[in-house]
Amino acid sequence: MLTVENLTKRFGANAAVDNASFSIDRPAMIGVIGRSGAGKSTLLRMINRLTDATTGRILFEGTDVTTLRGKDRRAWQASCAMIFQQFNLVPRMDVVSNVLHGTLGKRSTLTTVFNLFPKSDIHQAIDILDRLGMADHAPKRAEALSGGQQQRVAIARALMQDPRIILADEPIASLDPMNAQTVMEALRRIHEEDGRTVLANLHTLDTARRYCDRVIGMRDGRIVFDGTPEQLTTGVARDIYGAGDDFSEAATSTEIREPALVPPKVVLPEFA
Ligand SMILES: Nc1ncnc2c1ncn2[C@@H]1O[C@H](COP(=O)(O)OP(=O)(O)O)[C@@H](O)[C@H]1O
Ligand SMILES: [Mg+2]
Repeated sequence: MLTVENLTKRFGANAAVDNASFSIDRPAMIGVIGRSGAGKSTLLRMINRLTDATTGRILFEGTDVTTLRGKDRRAWQASCAMIFQQFNLVPRMDVVSNVLHGTLGKRSTLTTVFNLFPKSDIHQAIDILDRLGMADHAPKRAEALSGGQQQRVAIARALMQDPRIILADEPIASLDPMNAQTVMEALRRIHEEDGRTVLANLHTLDTARRYCDRVIGMRDGRIVFDGTPEQLTTGVARDIYGAGDDFSEAATSTEIREPALVPPKVVLPEFA
C-alpha cells in the first residue's frame, strides 16, 4: 500500500531523516517513537508533501507521490489527512464549520469564502461528529472546547476528506491523560472500523505499546526499530531514546491509574 524507500531530508549538513525505508502492506495502526529531534515530524511532513524529500521515494499503490504536482498533489494530501498536536482549528469558528473545512480541497474558492456548503456535506459533518461523541458541540465555537474535544473535531475534519491514511503528529502531547485516552481510542476505532491506516508520532512509549500494532523507532533520523509492541523491550526502547541505564519507562508514561496511585508527572527534559 505505502512504501517509503530510502527517504532522506537534509537541512544543510543535518539529515533530519536519513535513508528511511519501511512499507505498510495492509491497513494498520503504527506508532512512530523517538526522542525530540529524531525526525518523526519531518517523516510525516514528507509523506503528506508538506515538505519535499531531498532524496528517496514514497510509493502509494505504485504511484510515486513525491513527484505529484498541482491538483494531484492536493488529492494526495487529502487522502493522507494530517492531525497536529495543536489541533489547528479556527478558534472563533463553530465546530461544524471547522469540520466542513475538511472538504476545502474539493470546493471552489467562492463557495468556501461564503461558507456555502452543500446540505449533504453538513449532514456528513454532523454524522462524523456524532461518531466521535461530539455532535452536541456542533454549534459551539471551537475555542470553547477542551483540548481533547478540539482534537476530536480535528479528527472529524480529517475524516471529511475520507482519507486512506491519517497522519497524526503527536496528537495527544498537549492533552491530559483522560483526554489523551479518548483521542487515542477514537483513532484506534477509526482504524478498526473503517480500515484506515493511522501513522502517529507518539511522545510516550506506553501509548505506542497500548494502541499500535506496530512501532517504528527513530533515532538521529534513522529507523532503528520496526516491530511489534512485544518486540519493543525496555532494552530496545533505551536504545531508541539513546538513554542510559537510568531510563525509566514511567518517565514517558501517560498511563491512567487510580487517582491515589498517580505518580508525580515526571518527564525527562530530553523527552519533553
Ligand atoms: N525547517 C527546518 N529547518 C532546519 N532544520 C529542521 C527543520 N525542521 C526540522 N529540522 C531539524 O531536523 C531534525 C528532526 O526534526 P523533527 O522532524 O522535528 O524531529 P521530531 O519530530 O522527532 O522531534 C532536528 O534536528 C530539527 O532541528
Ligand atoms: Mg515532532
